[in-house]
Amino acid sequence: MKTLVVVSHKGGTGKSTLSIHLAVQAQSEGRDTLLVDLDNHSSTVAERASIRTDKHPLVVTAKVSDITDLHQQATDEGFDLLILDCPPYLNDDTDQITRLADYTILPTSPRFTDICTLPKNIEKIHQPFSVVLNSCTPDPVGQISFKTAQVYQVLNDSGTPVSPVHITRLEAFTDALNYGQGVTEYQSNSKASKQIKVLLDWLYTIS
Ligand SMILES: Nc1ncnc2c1ncn2[C@@H]1O[C@H](COP(=O)(O)OP(=O)(O)OP(=O)(O)O)[C@@H](O)[C@H]1O
Ligand SMILES: [Mg+2]
Repeated sequence: MKTLVVVSHKGGTGKSTLSIHLAVQAQSEGRDTLLVDLDNHSSTVAERASIRTDKHPLVVTAKVSDITDLHQQATDEGFDLLILDCPPYLNDDTDQITRLADYTILPTSPRFTDICTLPKNIEKIHQPFSVVLNSCTPDPVGQISFKTAQVYQVLNDSGTPVSPVHITRLEAFTDALNYGQGVTEYQSNSKASKQIKVLLDWLYTIS
């Protein structure tokens, strides 16, 4: 079983959004996926799952204190992929959770104010991990936007690991969630869909 952890030191960076869209796409590729909502305060994942008609991927809520047992149980039950959507802070639990991960991603907005606070926060994350730029300015066709390219440069210069796949700001990501759907089932040929497929492929290649 592969374990993917989604963390951030800030709220609203797209952890739950990416967790749901990745889980739905993984399930549709035939990977039996368990999506775990560890955010007991906002529970976006569990709440969106409650309006899904399709009961796959399976979604459960859990406490951080139960995560080692849950990881073992998911392994025993034969899941192919476990995705852990974490609360919006990094603390001592982060080390415990990210130790279970084959790979960890940290979605962040491409705003410089958010990028600048990354280096001191990522120390709490067990490797391997990458920042995933989310809600980026839409790219011109066949190119990366100038703003996003600038952010990549800053992250590369500071030695922060960053995914080569970035996610742009697209309404489809939010619209799909209004129906409890992943974007790849909501609009399978959309730009948003392609980005999720490419991100999932990259995660499988790297981990
Ligand atoms: N790429 C995107 N394009 C458009 N909207 C997005 C994108 N990513 C996230 N959003 C929207 O941003 C908001 C915050 O996203 P989300 O709830 O996934 O963040 P989060 O990191 O899980 O937040 P929290 O820390 O509160 O759990 C949501 O309304 C979501 O639909
Ligand atoms: Mg969330």
